[in-house]
Amino acid sequence: MNKLKVGVIGGTGMVGQRFVSLLAEHPWFELTVIAASARSAGKTYADAIGSRWAIDVPMPEKAKSIVVKDAVADMAAIAQEVDFVFSAVDMKKEEIVAFEEAYARLECPVVSNNSAHRWTPDVPMVVPELNPEHLDVIPAQRKRLGTKRGFIAVKSNCSLQSYVPALHPLKDEFGLEKVLVCTYQAISGAGKTFESWPEMVDNVIPYIGGEEEKSEQEPMKLWGRVENGVIVNAEGPSITAQCLRVPCSNGHMAAVFASFAKKPSKEEILERWASFQGRPQELSLPSAPKQFLQYFTEDNRPQTKLDRMREGGMGVNIGRLREDTQYDYKFVCLSHNTLRGAAGGAVLLAELLCAEGWFDR
Ligand SMILES: NC(=O)c1ccc[n+]([C@@H]2O[C@H](COP(=O)([O-])OP(=O)(O)OC[C@H]3O[C@@H](n4cnc5c(N)ncnc54)[C@H](OP(=O)(O)O)[C@@H]3O)[C@@H](O)[C@H]2O)c1
Repeated sequence: MNKLKVGVIGGTGMVGQRFVSLLAEHPWFELTVIAASARSAGKTYADAIGSRWAIDVPMPEKAKSIVVKDAVADMAAIAQEVDFVFSAVDMKKEEIVAFEEAYARLECPVVSNNSAHRWTPDVPMVVPELNPEHLDVIPAQRKRLGTKRGFIAVKSNCSLQSYVPALHPLKDEFGLEKVLVCTYQAISGAGKTFESWPEMVDNVIPYIGGEEEKSEQEPMKLWGRVENGVIVNAEGPSITAQCLRVPCSNGHMAAVFASFAKKPSKEEILERWASFQGRPQELSLPSAPKQFLQYFTEDNRPQTKLDRMREGGMGVNIGRLREDTQYDYKFVCLSHNTLRGAAGGAVLLAELLCAEGWFDR
């Protein structure tokens, strides 16, 4: 199989660096373009990054000499050169909406980390294990955009990717009614390290702008259904969230409380988690974790530092399942926010799109 040529828009940022490292040895995709703002354009990737390399693996040799392009000014040339792009930029919402649509209209599919298009009704927001069938809205989106090949697909917010996967296999069978969740989110989620955000050492900040709304509302789109070319959101369960920034480099933890119409036994919950398989596992996609949901029996697991890299940072880790006095059950979850929650989740989505023929010319 010839590898598909890929561009990373926002390749100098925190999530962009993850894309660059994940694509270095990818069996299906070849990184050929890196683009960012005019500040970085014209420099080699190594020079544009300078001292900003923020992830725990070395910068890939192949990427170092790539000359960074301007994501907006060089758009037409980039769209010609690649088969699709990943997008992870820090720009105003209206600017992102416009430039992602412009790439799609140039017949260059966009797999995006940004939140700008998450609520566009004909843009699928996909966690590949949970709602792969939402890709069926792409033909309607193409019709709206007037494209043959171009479209936008997005992944959801990183915080909910730690707890929604654990709720998913229980939701329909046991009638998930009510969820309360508190998230403990790493500083890389803000594109930061302890060097660039020293105030976070020995500190907790009880506010992450927009995160609680996303954590409560985005699951309704994930659990929605495709109808007449749009996603119709689910009406429940009701979710309430508090999101805190904690002094961890990577890994979002969530403390979850849940109630059901038909309360399952503890054994039933553990069995549904152990046996859950999604489309990525069925298709053996290159980035798919073999055991997506892993339950830890030890009282002190999962731990951020010990467990965030399970299955290459693509697994969701669960522990401490027990009955609660106010909800039916409580438990904790952990996922890697820049891998499963960002670049890794988007690469897995691109693999699904590729395997199902959405990138075909
Ligand atoms: N960090 C996470 O865990 C996480 C998780 C899920 C989703 N996200 C989302 O992913 C996106 C990127 O996040 P991040 O943490 O990687 O941000 P970041 O580290 O601040 O990186 C921002 C990127 O955007 C580029 N950029 C800024 N202004 C631009 C412009 N006018 N034109 C073109 N490129 C421009 C920057 O290029 P320069 O280097 O040239 O300035 C850089 O490559 C955000 O929408 C964020 O909400 C992040």
